[in-house]
Amino acid sequence: MDWCKVLGFVYSLHLFLSYVSCLHRDQFPSSFLFGTSTSSYQIEGAYLEDNKGLNNWDVFTHTKGNIMDGANGDNADDHYHRYMEDIELMQTLGVNSYRFSISWTRILPRGRFGEVNQLGISFYNGLINALLQKGIVPFVTIQHFDVPKELEDRYGSWLSPEIQEDFQYYAEVCFKAFGDRVKHWVTINEPNILVNLGYSIGVHPPGRCSLPYGNCTSGNSKVEPYVAAHNIILSHARAVNVYRKFYQENQGGSIGIVLASSWFEPLRNITVDQMAVQRALSFETGWFLDPIILGDYPSEMRKILGSNLPVFTSEQRNLLLTTKLDFIGINHYSTVYVKDCILSRCILNSFEGNGLLATTGERDGKLIGNPTGMPGFYVVPYGMEKVVMNMKERYSNIPMYITENGYAQSSNSSTAIEDLVDDVERVKFMQGHLTYLSSAIRKGADVRGYFVWSLIDNFEWSFGYSLRFGLHHVNYKTQERIPKLSAMWYRAFLGDSAINQ
Ligand code: NOJ
Repeated sequence: MDWCKVLGFVYSLHLFLSYVSCLHRDQFPSSFLFGTSTSSYQIEGAYLEDNKGLNNWDVFTHTKGNIMDGANGDNADDHYHRYMEDIELMQTLGVNSYRFSISWTRILPRGRFGEVNQLGISFYNGLINALLQKGIVPFVTIQHFDVPKELEDRYGSWLSPEIQEDFQYYAEVCFKAFGDRVKHWVTINEPNILVNLGYSIGVHPPGRCSLPYGNCTSGNSKVEPYVAAHNIILSHARAVNVYRKFYQENQGGSIGIVLASSWFEPLRNITVDQMAVQRALSFETGWFLDPIILGDYPSEMRKILGSNLPVFTSEQRNLLLTTKLDFIGINHYSTVYVKDCILSRCILNSFEGNGLLATTGERDGKLIGNPTGMPGFYVVPYGMEKVVMNMKERYSNIPMYITENGYAQSSNSSTAIEDLVDDVERVKFMQGHLTYLSSAIRKGADVRGYFVWSLIDNFEWSFGYSLRFGLHHVNYKTQERIPKLSAMWYRAFLGDSAINQ
């Protein structure tokens, strides 16, 4: 491929799209963080190196049948050895921030039952220092789906309140080691996805199922996802509490949590579907954010789930209300239609289906937006503005970051690299979502950053390497990184700041 031609093409494309959309870097505050996002298990590889302990994903991926293409993250993008090269990619893009996660078992191979691994600390010190040297702000997630195997084996990880002690301990090790340089902390990534995929439908570890979803045989109850979520909320709160008490004042950083945040449109223009939309929002993000910010689960959840939903003691409630949140991290990918299932019987087909609703991408034979490589994800740029405005209203405009937004391409061994690199659909996706994001900001939403998922193609959980989200193509045989059109578009878009300031 002739990269010069591609570059020339993308500049014209950028100019054209900017002209049509009037999207410019300077429509965002000058202090705005623009970055890319990744997570440790999905990119690092080196799964047994430098004393790293095994985590739940190491075990899950090594069990036959769990991952679509039989893949695992043993080597992934080999970022552990190539992080300097990856930082160069960021520099070329012109981003001013990078969101990544710390691998729990690189730092604590056996949770709190073993020593802190100094080699793990050194790795992240190297990464953080190199980022800062290049003027790139580290935006750090403490837990992104991975849990030490030891904690799964000892007490069933998130199903036991014991995890709260472990998570608090781990978070404190991170604050101590890195908090002098890290000013943006995320406690936990997408706990709503973690519990739904891990405890409702069993396609993520620990692979447990809960009626009415899934076809695995372990797990059984309607309560497990809610128990796991309860322990996650309290683990988060305890970590924030320690940060506030002992680190925040000296270190001067902020701390938040990240939720998967889809948007929902009523399937029919009738009240019951509009009410189902409200339930979908409560069962998706309200489940976590209401307790953390407002002190209790949404009333819709209590009404429907009754005693299957745990209750916060007054002490726990107090902890939640005193710790608060500095920001909400929003991972936004898609919008779907929602249909009521209380009045009209229907199959509860989604994670939010426990809220007695069904979701679909189709109305009267027409899709809500173009499909992407990820089943059930559609391109609906206006969903970005709606999600943000809804968070603004529900949580009194607490600062927000778009911690992930990205487009999935599906690929297999016969997909031509030219097609993957020529990702015009991703360019349109980003451009559309950024346009609606800037509109939300104009309407007063306090959004402070935007991170594309992802810097490089990587291990996409149960889809293995068959889905590609990267701005850079990765050849997994050679580990070569090749910029896609979208990387060049992002670079041109960010470059506007220099031109326009
Ligand atoms: C959200 C998750 O945080 C990330 O790990 C995943 O790869 C992307 N969504 C894409 O599915």
